[in-house]
Amino acid sequence: MRPSRAAILAEMGLAPIWKLRARAAPAAAQEAPPRAGSGDAREAGIRAMQWPELKHEVARCTACGLHKTRTQTVFGVGDERAEWLLVGEAPGAEEDRLGEPFVGQAGKLLDNMLAALGLERGKNVYIANVLKCRPPGNRNPEPEEVARCSPFLVRQIELLQPKLIVAMGRFAAQTLLSSDASIASLRGRVHRYHGVPLVVTYHPAYLLRNLPDKAKAWADLLFARRTVAGL
Ligand code: URA
Repeated sequence: MRPSRAAILAEMGLAPIWKLRARAAPAAAQEAPPRAGSGDAREAGIRAMQWPELKHEVARCTACGLHKTRTQTVFGVGDERAEWLLVGEAPGAEEDRLGEPFVGQAGKLLDNMLAALGLERGKNVYIANVLKCRPPGNRNPEPEEVARCSPFLVRQIELLQPKLIVAMGRFAAQTLLSSDASIASLRGRVHRYHGVPLVVTYHPAYLLRNLPDKAKAWADLLFARRTVAGL
């Protein structure tokens, strides 16, 4: 049986928010303009792809060394018409094994936080990572790997046209905002990714190690929901 929202919030050590604000009507679709420096043939090819080709291209990608150590690529999961896009860093061991983002411990926390917001993976939510392949030993992504892989995320965002992006953790935030600022300094404001509102929060794996910051992440998600509702 699915736990109640109150139970989920209690488990997270948070007070229930009962008065959910009504969601605003979807904003008009926004097409992200081409990014500066995206002119090479590979990126142009990726930018012309629709979902099926893009999935196929990711599955066969050998653009960086991570293809040698992956079990499989992890494309992303969810509703391809979702208003919410959540972006993480890279697949871990469980994700590499199962081919789906956020299915390990961090994923369970993410699912609980989504449930507390009245959201569910696959229903108006899409989840993707900056990297589509697991860095061995869960090491941090290398800049070259991010550079080779991020055109896939760029195209996913263009195809989704989400109402809101939630960047979870440093790599997602810094990649999407082309910034080297800290999470702490980026939280609590609405940024823009080619016109799409973007909110920054902590990575769920970080929250598993830093329990007191769960309350801050919850505040970020409430802020994200208010942002969506106000659009
Ligand atoms: N951490 C991430 O950033 N993404 C996943 O899919 C799993 C763990």
